Order: sequence, then C-alpha cells, then structure tokens
Amino acid sequence: MAQIKVCVFDAYGTLFDVAAAARALADEPGREAFAEVWQQVAADWRAKQLSYSWLRAVARDHIDFWQVTQDGLDWALERSDVAEPELREALLGLYWQLAAYPEVPEMLAALKQAGLQTAILSNGSPEMLKGAVESAGIGGVLDAVLSVEDVGIFKPDVRVYDMVGARFGCAPEEVLFVSSNGWDAAFGAAYGFDTLWVNRAGEPVDRLGTQPGRVAADLTGVPTIAGVA
Ligand code: LAC
Repeated sequence: MAQIKVCVFDAYGTLFDVAAAARALADEPGREAFAEVWQQVAADWRAKQLSYSWLRAVARDHIDFWQVTQDGLDWALERSDVAEPELREALLGLYWQLAAYPEVPEMLAALKQAGLQTAILSNGSPEMLKGAVESAGIGGVLDAVLSVEDVGIFKPDVRVYDMVGARFGCAPEEVLFVSSNGWDAAFGAAYGFDTLWVNRAGEPVDRLGTQPGRVAADLTGVPTIAGVA
C-alpha cells in the first residue's frame, strides 16, 4: 500500500454535524409542531438534496449546492405541510453555522502534526464551505477547501475526484478519502483513493458494484489508518 500523503474529507455529515443542528432547532421552545415532523423533514431534505445533485449531474444542468439545498428543503417542507418562512430561513441558516463532530479538531491536528496534508472535497459552494469551516473553527488545520464549483459538476463525477491530484500533485493511492456517504466513498475507491466510509448509523453498504475500502463508526481512527499514529 502506498504511503498516504493527503487526507481528504467530505463535508456535510462527515466533518460537519448537520443532523445535530436540525435537532437543536426542533428542540427550541415554541417549535413543538416542527418537533413532531423534524425527523421526516431532515431525512427528506437530505435525500432530495443528494438526488437533485445526482440528477443535475446526469442532466448536465449544473446549479450550485446552495440552490440544490434550498430546492431539497422546499420539497421536504411541503411534504410535511410546514409553511413557515421563518422556519425555512432558520433551517437554511444552519448550513452556515455548523459544528464539527467532537473528534474532528484533534484528528485534523494529529494529521497536520505528522506532516500530512488535509483538505475538504465537497459539493458545497465556496461560500457555504467558508461559513461552515469558520463556524467549526477548523480553518487552521486544513490546507485546502475544494469545492465542485471549480469543475461545475457534482460528485461522483470523476472531474471532482481529479481536483485532489490537481491541487496536491499526488497519485490517487497516496490519498485517504473519507466520507460519510457510502456512495461517495465507493466511487472514491473506484477512482483509486484509499477510502474510509464513516458509517455512524450502521447502514448497509450501498450496492454499486464498488465498495469503500474501509468502514468505521467515527473519525477517531483516521490518523492510524493514514499511518501516522
Ligand atoms: C458533500 C456532501 C455530499 O459535502 O456531503 O459533498
């Protein structure tokens, strides 16, 4: 196995805890009605956000992830009969002020301390990613934040995965690619990255004819997998 030189992370659901932010909003006083449906809304929102990104990639009709995120939310809110504009704005606002999962800062710091390079590779627009990186306070332990906007198509198009070699001048096998999306980790593996699927929910593996190289329940083992701990 090649020596890992760069650790690359998906953003939403991998480094940033989107579900916790939506749950916190549902727990706010005065949001009792939303609390009844928030799990359905959150699940529909994520499912539509992702499927719209794939459909736009297949149709070659790109629009940025901020628009896709709003479109997915609007579908999810309508399905659950939630029609408060203020709530829509509050949910969208979460994307700009996400927290990282608790193990993230220490894990990234360990990689940096060992001399590895670190990056985000995300569907997110540069502005969305900037907001999330700043609010999570992890800008100092990332060498690059790569957005698909530079190639104008969403994952899992190979042009997105090509951005890593273009930025770092490394071969795919020198990259550990980490994603909480099973399909993203699987296509990253097919591309040639060493891959880790962060499967926090214990979901079945996606049937895609290609599989993630490794699976873990959280990010704590990343430095060990990268060979620096
Ligand atoms: C991303 C989504 C897919 O950050 O989680 O690219």
